[in-house]
Amino acid sequence: MRVRAISGSPADVTVDVLAVPIYRDDAELSGDLAELDAASGGAIRHAIDWGEFNLVEHASALVDAGDLPAERLLLLNGGVRGRGAFRARRLAAVATRRLNGRGARSLAIWLRDGEDDDAWTAAAAGAIAGTYRATAIYGRVRDTEAMQRSTDEVLFVGASQAAVDRGAIIGEGIAFGRDLANRSANDLYPERMAEVARELSDDGCRVEILEPADMERLGMGLLAGVGQGAAHEPRLIAIKLPGWEDAGDRRLAIVGKGVCFDSGGISIKPAENMGDMKHDKSGAAAVIAAARTVARLAPDTPLMAVAPMVENMPGGNAQRPGDVVKAMNGMTVEVTNTDAEGRLILADAMTWAEGEGATHVVDVATLTGAHAIAFGDQVSAYFARPREWGSRIGDAAERAGEWFWEMPLVAEYRASYDSPHADIVNSGGRDGALIKAAVFLSEFVTVPWVHVDIAGTAYLSAEKPYGPKGATGAAVAALVQLALDFPGLSLPEVIPGD
Ligand code: BES
Ligand code: MN
Ligand code: ZN
Repeated sequence: MRVRAISGSPADVTVDVLAVPIYRDDAELSGDLAELDAASGGAIRHAIDWGEFNLVEHASALVDAGDLPAERLLLLNGGVRGRGAFRARRLAAVATRRLNGRGARSLAIWLRDGEDDDAWTAAAAGAIAGTYRATAIYGRVRDTEAMQRSTDEVLFVGASQAAVDRGAIIGEGIAFGRDLANRSANDLYPERMAEVARELSDDGCRVEILEPADMERLGMGLLAGVGQGAAHEPRLIAIKLPGWEDAGDRRLAIVGKGVCFDSGGISIKPAENMGDMKHDKSGAAAVIAAARTVARLAPDTPLMAVAPMVENMPGGNAQRPGDVVKAMNGMTVEVTNTDAEGRLILADAMTWAEGEGATHVVDVATLTGAHAIAFGDQVSAYFARPREWGSRIGDAAERAGEWFWEMPLVAEYRASYDSPHADIVNSGGRDGALIKAAVFLSEFVTVPWVHVDIAGTAYLSAEKPYGPKGATGAAVAALVQLALDFPGLSLPEVIPGD
């Protein structure tokens, strides 16, 4: 898909489809909207009166464009104004998705609200996201040529070309991350993910892969323990951008949970929807996709992506509840629940990242069912130490069109992890599980750190107007923005003592 910034009035654009958001305060049809309506000979008024368009969330109506040079108008429910990049990304995704499988070749998008460079970048990324087809990975018979038709040129009315070009690269990165997260566990297991990562050396990155023997040598007992029950061996993937090597005193590590399949292990999960647990590698997919995207946009960024990859499987060699394992940082962990595996692999991966020189760490994980229950599929939750570092990723997410919300790190919950046999257990029980998971992780990192739980946001369990069922690419755009901002940010360099 080509993306192009254009200037001038939307009333003069010759395209197949002109997308126009109708915001909640537009009922009176005034100002810029009234002007377009007049130029169209009342087409917008007519569509609204006809009941074609109503204010249901993400509703859209494809109507005749009357006297406008555009063939058709795509009226979109814009909801309330002032939602910036988040809304821009959504609207653009709904627009291109609405046109999939149709004859429209060119689409112009007019935003009418909060049009800054961030919003245009998010809109371009969203326009690409709307053409994402999950069936393209494995579909052979039903994924026909007609279904594959999508808009091939999107014009952004009033944008800057640099902003939409950046958005296109980010949009491709998000699609790459979605493909990785959507691929099934029989296809994309740890060694295969390592092969995918190795290809990033084409983008100038240094890719390092740790195998089980390396994990043993390094004392990564937590990562090795989770991986020991599966026929497919674990791997730890590290992708260092060119800027990592000769960075000054600041290096950012993004660490993603890479559980290719989470059966729960011996603490096995119920059968219902267990197949969704192929998405338990979404954090790894996000950090790998973000690294690839930043390598294309700003290779000098001091960035490293780390992805501990495992399958969490039951079996004769699987970890048992009650097993005690030793972490790379020296702590002993009593595994009280083999289904709390994400925190175990992240713990060793973060210790390793610090050893490689990371001064700031962000981990991204589909870590707790409690996140999905509390936040649903719209908002990712983050925890930060210190909070000032967290606010940087909160800002980056907002600029990138994602919705992140801070949760508290409650040190008082550390007591729920006390073990009679080891330094810590791995499961603190059901109550407060979202927060407690972050508290567990906090034991394994000593530099400024943010934990992002994307369990609810990483994939859609049903199709939406802006995307198909399956992976969403959550956190890719936020991580890219954070990495691009990172060299120039005012940052806490250490965790303040309490
Ligand atoms: N991968 C799951 C979390 C998850 C659940 C992600 C549903 C997406 C949707 C994680 O490994 C897990 O099993 N967490 C347990 C932790 C518990 C045993 C402390 C959970 O949330 O139940
Ligand atoms: Mn689990
Ligand atoms: Zn898991």
